[in-house]
Amino acid sequence: MTPLVIDTDTAQDDCVALLIGLLDPRADLRAITMVAGNVGFDDQVHNAFLTCNVAGRLGEVPLHLGCRQPLERPWQGAQDVHGDGVGGLRMDLTGCAPEDEHAVDALIRLAAENPGELTVVAIGPLTNIATAVRRDPSFARNVGGLHVMGGSNNGRGNITAAAEFNFWVDPEAARIVFDAGFRVTVVPWAPVTLERAVFGPARLDEIAALGTPVSRFFDRICAQTLEFDRSVGIDGTTHPDSLTAALVLHPELVLRSADYHVDVETEGRITRGYAAMSWGVHGQAPNATVVEDVDAPGFFGYLKDLLSTPVQPA
Ligand code: BDR
Ligand code: CA
Repeated sequence: MTPLVIDTDTAQDDCVALLIGLLDPRADLRAITMVAGNVGFDDQVHNAFLTCNVAGRLGEVPLHLGCRQPLERPWQGAQDVHGDGVGGLRMDLTGCAPEDEHAVDALIRLAAENPGELTVVAIGPLTNIATAVRRDPSFARNVGGLHVMGGSNNGRGNITAAAEFNFWVDPEAARIVFDAGFRVTVVPWAPVTLERAVFGPARLDEIAALGTPVSRFFDRICAQTLEFDRSVGIDGTTHPDSLTAALVLHPELVLRSADYHVDVETEGRITRGYAAMSWGVHGQAPNATVVEDVDAPGFFGYLKDLLSTPVQPA
């Protein structure tokens, strides 16, 4: 089993990534750490507890609250894309208490307790991870692998023409992370997510037909983003975060990856959050492996199996 922490801004696809951490037998999910990103922070916390409950694992995985805003900027979310992040589902949170320990402290502690063993799956802005780097110089060394969803390696952004959301929200944090010496794997928005991890009507129908509580949950939480994605010309829901989590546990799904030197623009007028991925001709040593192609049918089949799991929410 792989010891994992999922650092998340829990809405829609983050919930699916959490389901992977909670239900895949290869995953040993040690903690969920929350970072400001997609929707209001309290909504994100609600959504994480709700997802644990849907997976039948409420109360089993500690949830730590982290940074409520980016390092140097005001928080800006993506409620226009995600709504509340779970399609209006509401759960009574009585009895659901986050841990007292801050997410950054939990990340540092868990990495130090298992040097070289812990995998961190960072599927939101990188504020918690960068803060941990600043606080503990050995953090990057102690983390076995850092898997980041973010950036775009053909300049096709989703929040601006140049930038992907997670890097755009906190570009200073992203810059710190790529400079910190982690063993980083990046799953970018483009091209791999857009080309390989969009589920159109036929695939969504297949998932709906599973008829399990988790598949119904998937259906419900994807409805709002499906509407948004269609409005911008994508025929299906996008699944970058769940792809990132799945590839950690099933690296055989990666068909092609390459090493790059990644740096993130913090100052540009139209390029804030742009991820420059240099492939070697510019004299910079690689600092990340970027996933370029994956087995799309394999990924979908994997998710379908996961969503067939017959768990019952409490
Ligand atoms: C990323 O931003 C959010 O919309 C998703 O949760 C994903 O992590 C994609 O740009
Ligand atoms: Ca996310």
